[in-house]
Amino acid sequence: MQDIIARNGLETPEPLKAEVKSVPPWLQGTLVRNGPGLFSVGNSEYNHWFDGLSLIHSFTFHNEVTYRSKYLKSETYKSNTKADRIVVSEFGTMVYPDPCKNIFAVPNFTDNNLINIIRYGQDYYASSEVNYINQIDPLTLETVGRANYRNHIALNLATAHPHYDKDGNTFNMGTAIIGLGRPKYIIFKVPANASKDPKKPALRKVQQICSVPFRSTLYPSYFHSFGMTENYIVFVEQPFKLDIVKLATAYFRGVNWGSCLKFDEKDSTFFHVINIKTGKAKSLHYHADALVVFHHINAYEEDDHVVFDIIAYKDSNLYDMFYLHNMTKETDNFIQTNKVFSPPVCQRFVLPLNVQKQDSPKGTNLVTLTDTTAQAVMQDDGSIYCKPDTIFEMELPGINYNFNARKYRYFYGSRLEWSPHPNKQIAKVDIVTKTHVEWRQENCYPSEPVFVASPGAEEEDDVILSSVVSSDPSVSPFLLILNAKTFEEVGRASIPVPVHIDLHGLFI
Ligand SMILES: [Fe+2]
Repeated sequence: MQDIIARNGLETPEPLKAEVKSVPPWLQGTLVRNGPGLFSVGNSEYNHWFDGLSLIHSFTFHNEVTYRSKYLKSETYKSNTKADRIVVSEFGTMVYPDPCKNIFAVPNFTDNNLINIIRYGQDYYASSEVNYINQIDPLTLETVGRANYRNHIALNLATAHPHYDKDGNTFNMGTAIIGLGRPKYIIFKVPANASKDPKKPALRKVQQICSVPFRSTLYPSYFHSFGMTENYIVFVEQPFKLDIVKLATAYFRGVNWGSCLKFDEKDSTFFHVINIKTGKAKSLHYHADALVVFHHINAYEEDDHVVFDIIAYKDSNLYDMFYLHNMTKETDNFIQTNKVFSPPVCQRFVLPLNVQKQDSPKGTNLVTLTDTTAQAVMQDDGSIYCKPDTIFEMELPGINYNFNARKYRYFYGSRLEWSPHPNKQIAKVDIVTKTHVEWRQENCYPSEPVFVASPGAEEEDDVILSSVVSSDPSVSPFLLILNAKTFEEVGRASIPVPVHIDLHGLFI
């Protein structure tokens, strides 16, 4: 694993036919995925796995299966390649472009969008969490050009995990920190018809739904995703925070941006429930113990409650685990170092909506749903303290997206074992029975599982796709197709070139 986690990837720019074993004929489309693929340029190296330059790859199903991969031709990629060394800072790597200049030179901000593929209107973008996104052609993987959120809406950061409603509208959240007026979180929408004029970017049609003020002006919460029900956005304001003063001075102090994130275990976690149509937040003050969350699984409304599921951690050590000096340790050493890290746990929180502060009995559980042990207890000060129902240990969650914002039963994800390395198996979890089935193969590392529904399917489970790489050189990388009901293998498409380990993607 050490050999494949941080090796520089190869481009396969022309479609390469895969060796296919049994692919369902209805499976037509392209799975486009993103992740870090280049960890050194010239003699310079990145410090952190999430710093690697974006390498996009795709698996296209159209009577046969073809594979392609191309580096995202971001300005960051072009600048680094031209200089033959890393000249643009990333989250875990601070660099100073010109050694002749002093450190008070202004840094180029990265547009290395390595996390996910997202859609605004009919346009597809490689995205990370900065103010730039790079449009790509999802068929050829060519980079079309970059867009800057700040030309269309006042924000500095935006998530790489938007939501889509059934009409094709995209909803996302961002943060306005510096130079954009009063600091705040921003919720916005890009309408489905935003790409009517192909010469103009879909982002020009962006609409701000509302803003939410920071609880603490100088320490906004970091967030990687959010939840969406039919009527509400669910935003977790967690005590994993950005230190704005440290961020503003990091470059001059010679430390990386990552060092400006801090988990405050003594603080609380706050839940905001915001009406999508009116932009108004519920006035109830929901809170829970300190936690760290990166990924929401799903959220829905039931009998005047908002139910939402997240992958929660007890601390913020996950980010530290992905420093490359840690990831490339020998197995025994890695286990020793990382065994104290908190595991990712799926937790369900339930927020009662129609609560009258003055009438509600203090100290009693206000959750009336009978299929959960999650609690929401009215406190003396009128706030509501929430305790989760614990479901399963899992990360990189996915669902049948037709069930997004609806009551659902199954989710899929990667089971993270701290030994010897993460992502050794993928699993399907039944939330009702709290049981799971899993797929694994010796020395194989499957990526985040992606659910694809067959045409006309009404049930919640159908097929699962996962890009699998092996540390055994005799096993070619392959695109795995599983029956989503049983988690038994339906087929696989072997790729005759190296494939890199990725993060997230989209089936188009
Ligand atoms: Fe993510």
